[in-house]
Amino acid sequence: MFSYVKGLLLALAAVQFVGASTSLTGQYTCVTIGNYELCGNQWGIANGVGSQNATLISASGNDISWSTTYTWADNENDVKTFTNALSNTAKGVQLSAITSAETTYDWYYNTQSSGLRADVSYDIWFGAAESGTAASSSSSYEIMVWLSGLGGIEPGPTETWETYSFIPSTAGTSITSFSADLNVFFKYLTANEGISTALYVQAIQAGTEAFTGSAELTVSLYSVSLSG
Ligand SMILES: *[C@@H]1O[C@H](CO)[C@@H](O)[C@H](O)[C@H]1NC(C)=O
Repeated sequence: MFSYVKGLLLALAAVQFVGASTSLTGQYTCVTIGNYELCGNQWGIANGVGSQNATLISASGNDISWSTTYTWADNENDVKTFTNALSNTAKGVQLSAITSAETTYDWYYNTQSSGLRADVSYDIWFGAAESGTAASSSSSYEIMVWLSGLGGIEPGPTETWETYSFIPSTAGTSITSFSADLNVFFKYLTANEGISTALYVQAIQAGTEAFTGSAELTVSLYSVSLSG
């Protein structure tokens, strides 16, 4: 009897969860769900003309699914937005202590304009303090992993953070189904690039940077976890 009731409640909860797709409009709108915070993050729109929104499709356990629709013009080398899912659990572990950083990122373009300039990427932040907000002064390094970079864009150094990038896709192609242990890249960075193993992973974001063009992108499954 007890387990039957419990099962029924779980089923009802699951139905409610999937049914409640949430739309994000506005420049810095976010929603916290499960282990993630999904954010529109339209930080660069002063350099462009257009609009964008994001939709939370579902979240369950350590998995999240979402989509975004946008159209942006002007200043083709400037990022307009970084719609992303930030993990609220994969953070606060020292690089020396991490044993694995497993992730899956499955996504596709429902539609894309010709000449679209956009990437699909991870944006990961290392810093001396155990916790720190992504893209803030608490971080010392920005680590990007690009699964796709269309239209001739490529990751470049920023003035604010020392940036390292890993591009497993080749120019103009995309990896639309990505599963990997990010700790392999972290270990490469500490062994070869002088990054201290005493630093912490402060934030792992995964999303899409839009430069110019129109697209509708669906992230069918994203997850990340840190062990250590
Ligand atoms: C979402 O953004 C797209 C692209 O800018 C726009 O065409 C659409 O009307 C927007 N939808 C909502 C609900 O704001």
